[in-house]
Amino acid sequence: MSKQVLVLPGDGIGPEIVAQARKVLDKINAQFQLGLQFEEGLLGGAAIDAFGVPLDEATLARAAAADAILMGSVGGPKWDQLGRAIRPEQGLLKLRSSLKLFANLRPAILYPQLADASTLKRDVVSGLDLLIVRELTGGIYFGEPRGIRTLPDGEREGYNTYKYSESEIERIGRNAFEMAMKRGKRLCSVDKANVLEVTVLWREVMDRLAPEFPDVELTHMYVDNAAMQLVKAPKQFDVIVTGNMFGDILSDAAAMLTGSIGMLPSASLDKNRRGLFEPCHGSAPDIAGQDVANPLATILSAAMMLRYSLDQEDAAKAIERAVSAVLDQGLRTGDIMSEGMQRVGTEAMGDAVVAAL
Ligand code: NAD
Ligand code: IPM
Ligand code: MN
Repeated sequence: MSKQVLVLPGDGIGPEIVAQARKVLDKINAQFQLGLQFEEGLLGGAAIDAFGVPLDEATLARAAAADAILMGSVGGPKWDQLGRAIRPEQGLLKLRSSLKLFANLRPAILYPQLADASTLKRDVVSGLDLLIVRELTGGIYFGEPRGIRTLPDGEREGYNTYKYSESEIERIGRNAFEMAMKRGKRLCSVDKANVLEVTVLWREVMDRLAPEFPDVELTHMYVDNAAMQLVKAPKQFDVIVTGNMFGDILSDAAAMLTGSIGMLPSASLDKNRRGLFEPCHGSAPDIAGQDVANPLATILSAAMMLRYSLDQEDAAKAIERAVSAVLDQGLRTGDIMSEGMQRVGTEAMGDAVVAAL
């Protein structure tokens, strides 16, 4: 049975890292006879250059029809001066929202070989395996009204709206409880319920769901403390569930626990687990085109695609084992480099993962 995968390389380092993930997928496709068929499309700045919009209707339709989407990253200085409506990032947000990809899974796992690549002490991070479940299609990212308006006195004011409905909180909450059931059965809901009503409701709904999952221990934490605890003692967490913006920020912080943002993959899923798979990092314009970007977050996102949307757990595990084998060989891109290791570029890292499969 054939499966369609839409590949959206995007901007900056996007095409470089996605090319490595494609090589890996081609090999795994042949090895496991997965019947994956790939097609490519434009998203972000690349789409603005070609069509004048960051996500055109034809690409959106292809994304909606695909079994899964693999993305690189979008954005860059070339398009930073454009108005909000046609910024590259809007293409990605429209894709997430149109396809109802509300559940964003961001696993921060420390590969033991990288214990010295983290800026944190070895004993703080070794053995780390935490999952951030970020709500992805609501919250302050999408709340209306929003904009920049001119007040009667002529001064301008920017404003956004932070809101979540009970049903939005419930569906991400259930998803997080279900994830916790399959892991360490501890769920920490992160909010700002001491200040923001929207998260008072968030906390109430999480508490209401808890009796449905009696085996899961639910705790609550304010987001400022959570940021501190992530750096102080990250292994206290099993699964974290939080809103769109808090999840965006906390997951970049969690990335550094794994050695580099170049190690953090993600899955963005709808209610049927169809989804978009992309590294958590951005288009890294500062290193684009230099063959130095770490492709492992994208390769690990491809593994998540096989696991969650294509039901190919064995193939997903094979990719994760190959990544681990390459780290065992001592190969490192610059971002995860440490003493005594062998520095390689983006392409060589991709080739090494293919060879290890
Ligand atoms: P960024 O994640 O692109 O880069 C932050 C830092 O991490 C940079 O120093 C970069 O070189 C480094 N880095 C990122 N990925 C790396 C990798 N794979 N290997 C090695 N180093 C890596 O964040 P930014 O600089 O704030 O944003 C740059 C652009 O990317 C902006 O236009 C932003 O909007 C966009 N962005 C896109 C996404 C996405 O597509 N999902 C995510 C974040 C940022
Ligand atoms: C991410 C990015 C995006 C976000 C941007 C590019 C819209 O930072 O995927 O983490 O904020 O969600
Ligand atoms: Mn982000």
